[in-house]
Amino acid sequence: MLAKTFFGMEQLLATELKKLGATEVFEGNRLIKFKGDKGFMYKANLCLRNALKILKPIFEFRADNDIVFYEKLYNFDWKDILSPDETFAIDSVVHGNIFTHSLYVSQRCKDAIVDRFKKDYGKRPSVDTLHPDIRLHLHIFNNKCSLSLDTSGRSLHHRGYRSLTNIAPINEVLAAGIIQLSGWDERTDFIDPMCGSGTFLIEAAMMACKIPANLNRNEFAFEKWKDWDEALFEKIKSSQLNRVVSPEGKIYGFDKAPSALEKSTTNIKNAGLEDFIKVNRANFFHSQKMGDTPLHLLTNPPYGERLEGDINELYKNFGDTLKRSYPNTQAWMISSNFEALKFIGLRPSRKIKLFNGKLETRLCFFPIYEGTKKIHKLRNEDDKPSKN
Ligand SMILES: C[S@@+](CC[C@H](N)C(=O)[O-])C[C@H]1O[C@@H](n2cnc3c(N)ncnc32)[C@H](O)[C@@H]1O
Repeated sequence: MLAKTFFGMEQLLATELKKLGATEVFEGNRLIKFKGDKGFMYKANLCLRNALKILKPIFEFRADNDIVFYEKLYNFDWKDILSPDETFAIDSVVHGNIFTHSLYVSQRCKDAIVDRFKKDYGKRPSVDTLHPDIRLHLHIFNNKCSLSLDTSGRSLHHRGYRSLTNIAPINEVLAAGIIQLSGWDERTDFIDPMCGSGTFLIEAAMMACKIPANLNRNEFAFEKWKDWDEALFEKIKSSQLNRVVSPEGKIYGFDKAPSALEKSTTNIKNAGLEDFIKVNRANFFHSQKMGDTPLHLLTNPPYGERLEGDINELYKNFGDTLKRSYPNTQAWMISSNFEALKFIGLRPSRKIKLFNGKLETRLCFFPIYEGTKKIHKLRNEDDKPSKN
């Protein structure tokens, strides 16, 4: 099978797949190839945090021109895949110079399927691009064509918990990947101080609780297949649910906008995580870290794409707040505004390139150590004469 993901998250997904039990795992460009049986396909769709879609290849062939392409698809044995009274859709991705238009390729594939069904059954399956029974995925690189069944349906970032979105919500799969790239241990206290609709908080809590990423989703494409095995799926789901635990650390967030608070509160409830995530209306810049224990801070601040006031000032305040009020904090933030990032006034000790939609971003790490107060205290203690 093939699991698709975002740029920069391939290694995370490969590791996740291996941990889940996949074999023959190979990393590609924004995708991972792996082997697994039907049960594993169910488990992967239910559990993977870093995958956008899982495809199951069903037919690989070569076509040097349009006529051969049509004939190969016409001659394929469709009866195990599709029935004349079902609906279908085809997504295509083309690279190379033989086939250059993805829509044209989808259209020709559709013609081949429809013509074949008309010949064999006297009737044809209909196309439904929005909610088909069977979704096919065609990938063409020069003359190499690969036809797959889309096992997931809607992209797996539709986790099912986010009914309300804020301005510029982060994609759920990207949020999960960012949390993992930041190296959060799932135990240290976690804060998103500009939490918007709560995506980082919910993904973090699901990780800490070991809740399968797509538990709240209402459907997967494979549920409409002829070989759908509901008993097998339920068995896999309940064995995953047996692993669920309560989080060890605190998970909490702030946002200064009342509308963001409303949205995050609703989404947290949708995910059933209201006992484990606390959100408050607060301005991060007027806040202070609670207690002396380590804190993992991760946020997606405004990028200045909209009219959001003085964005350089906001980034300066972000840096000042960390330095002044957040000692002993591993602070991470993602932004596409490279100019504003300079105003933080701290040198990131790591920068990871990612894309948030079309925007090239950097996930930056600012480790904030113990406050100077504490260092002075320790120094003074060192100066005291030893009792021995
Ligand atoms: C890009 S959005 C975050 C989106 C979020 N990751 C999500 O998935 O919905 C940035 C958020 O920062 C909040 N914000 C901006 N300045 C803030 C501040 N000083 N304190 C707290 N929240 C702030 C905004 O209200 C907005 O909700």
